[in-house]
Amino acid sequence: MTRLYPAEGPLRGSIRVPGDKSICHRGVMFGGLAGAFSTIRGFSGGADNLSTIGVLRSLGAVVEQDGKTVRVRGGALSSSPTPLDCGNSGTTMRLMAGLLAGLGLESTLVGDASLHARPMERVAGPLRERGLRVDTTHGRPPILVRAGGSFVTGEVHLRVASAQVKSCLLLAALGRQAPLTVYEPHPSRDHTENMLRAMGVAIESSPHYAHPGASEGPAWVRMEAHSTPLNPVTIDVPGDISSAAFWLCAGALVPGSRVELPACGVSPTRAGVLEALATAGVCVTRRNEVSSGGEPIADLCVEPGASTGMTVPAEMVPRLVDEVPVLAVLAARLPGASIFHGVGELRVKECDRLAATLRLLAACGARAEVQGDDLHVHGQPGVPFRAFEFDPEHDHRMAAAATIAAQVADGVSTVKHVECLAVSYPDFLADLEALRS
Ligand code: S3P
Repeated sequence: MTRLYPAEGPLRGSIRVPGDKSICHRGVMFGGLAGAFSTIRGFSGGADNLSTIGVLRSLGAVVEQDGKTVRVRGGALSSSPTPLDCGNSGTTMRLMAGLLAGLGLESTLVGDASLHARPMERVAGPLRERGLRVDTTHGRPPILVRAGGSFVTGEVHLRVASAQVKSCLLLAALGRQAPLTVYEPHPSRDHTENMLRAMGVAIESSPHYAHPGASEGPAWVRMEAHSTPLNPVTIDVPGDISSAAFWLCAGALVPGSRVELPACGVSPTRAGVLEALATAGVCVTRRNEVSSGGEPIADLCVEPGASTGMTVPAEMVPRLVDEVPVLAVLAARLPGASIFHGVGELRVKECDRLAATLRLLAACGARAEVQGDDLHVHGQPGVPFRAFEFDPEHDHRMAAAATIAAQVADGVSTVKHVECLAVSYPDFLADLEALRS
């Protein structure tokens, strides 16, 4: 149990959040498909990304780490005789299933207890439909990938927008040197497409990815056949907007705060948190906008000033899917009702985040309920959160959301197993202390 004291004054300062977890995973994996060294600068150091490094090493890639710089050389990967440990990382397991099946490498993918409770047929099913030999264990890990099978090219239509499933299928097709078109109901994060393009693969995508929310019909990504090894790449990883989201919400919650977040990734497919905050009237300024490797980057700065509840339509959910718990914490203190539409996917994240978010809000004395797949939060701006006890079920984003809620509680709160923060953000509590002092 960790005791968390409410903030005694405004949160102020500048925080350089860890490198984007999704981009770091892809940098290591795709670097493993290149014949010369790729360089990833600004690597996150989170446990999930270290799991990906471990997996690539087990397959024979050379991965050198020097602080925040990682160099990867792959080229001729080979099957691993021992199971590949993905730890807590769903992205590692789901993307690697496609990468291994595409390359025809026999392997077993395993992980921790939380990962072993998560659905894997969403990748194994479509891979089998394409002709590849991938099996789950009653729908969950371990995943067994066997050599052989022949890849059926064409179109895949995803029922749920998911960057993990989309990326898994693109990697499988890439390994088979086959073209593939993936459709999804709404655009999910496009880091795979951006990085593969930078490594020489021809990929076209619909305008949804540049302008989410403004384009009609399903989003699509079309990849041409391409042979490996890929061209090596140098990546400057932007700060993770999913980590920055905690400070954006904390800055909006605690009166008088001003939090600066330099060099955050603000891809339109990821920055739904900024859109959601804007619907509540929270002002987040962007400065020094640049682009690197197809990824837009900006310095962000947040100050309190919400004027109403938040509205999150279902089509926006893929671009803030990991930020819903902390946005819900903020929503509980906004003047008005907030609705997060179509957030059913939260039930199958590192824990059932919909249930855990309700549990957290109830513990704080806030009012919220789930109707179907929609989360309703009834804001009570004048009512302080009750000091609370919370078990985040080893889910890093729930532990971080609870830590932010504790900043505006009326006493000392306690949160269990905060060490799980290291999955994505090892220095989270140290950065919080820096903002509080
Ligand atoms: C991720 C995609 C998202 C997200 C996860 C990381 C990725 O999952 O929740 O934390 O890096 O592709 P889905 O695409 O399955 O929603």
